Amino acid sequence: MTRLRFLLLSGAAAPLALAAAFAADGPPSETCRVPRLQAVAASPGASSAADLTRAEGVGLYLCLFGEMQAGYAQSGNRFAAEFVDWDIHNAQPFVSAGHGGRYVNTYANEAAAGYARLDEAGPMPAGAVLAMDSFSVSAAGLAAPGPLFLMEKMPAGLAAATGDWRYTLILPDGRIAGTSGGDGAAEVAACHECHRKLGGARDSLLPVPEEFRID
Ligand code: HEC
Repeated sequence: MTRLRFLLLSGAAAPLALAAAFAADGPPSETCRVPRLQAVAASPGASSAADLTRAEGVGLYLCLFGEMQAGYAQSGNRFAAEFVDWDIHNAQPFVSAGHGGRYVNTYANEAAAGYARLDEAGPMPAGAVLAMDSFSVSAAGLAAPGPLFLMEKMPAGLAAATGDWRYTLILPDGRIAGTSGGDGAAEVAACHECHRKLGGARDSLLPVPEEFRID
């Protein structure tokens, strides 16, 4: 499933919870926003909680994508530049509680093709890489690029403390906040703790929620 097919997919509009503002997000985009939410936020007595339809979620992602991509690529991390050509595994951006309540999208490279059938796949081979990009949306419909989350399966023994996974957190402006076993390792320690705890039986990977999944 390439990004193009993802864009063409039609599906039921699912109500999605709103993301709050997070320190690691970039500044709100000048051009990408949800006009309907701006109107809701401006009306007296409007609730601060609002949902995005599928079309709004996909529309925002398309709008923000170029900005997000340019920021991540500044990092010099090769996967941050390559992941856009990998298979995407969700039919629309979905809210991820484990990643700050942001809207996220999950991509897997060829070596990680087993991600589509996690329960049968067994441990991932070295060279498998998963990338999750993200953006946040305020109650007033403003959208901002969020971080890029990477998991790279290393040859056995190179990252033994984290189940042979190297976790990397790349901020929207391309700064690398941390990488397992390297600079800022403490910044990404929580990654493996959560992934191992919730995904121990699946080589620390966690599936896209069923209602958003495609393979
Ligand atoms: C509190 C739990 C939690 C923490 C902390 C967390 N994650 Fe995740 N991660 C998840 C869950 C759950 C998913 C599956 C998608 C979803 O439902 O959000 C996921 C999915 C992913 C994916 C897509 C591959 C997969 O397993 O589905 C990547 C890549 C990823 N996380 C990287 C990271 C990185 C890098 C960090 C640290 C900066 C991190 N995660 C921190 C819970 C967490």
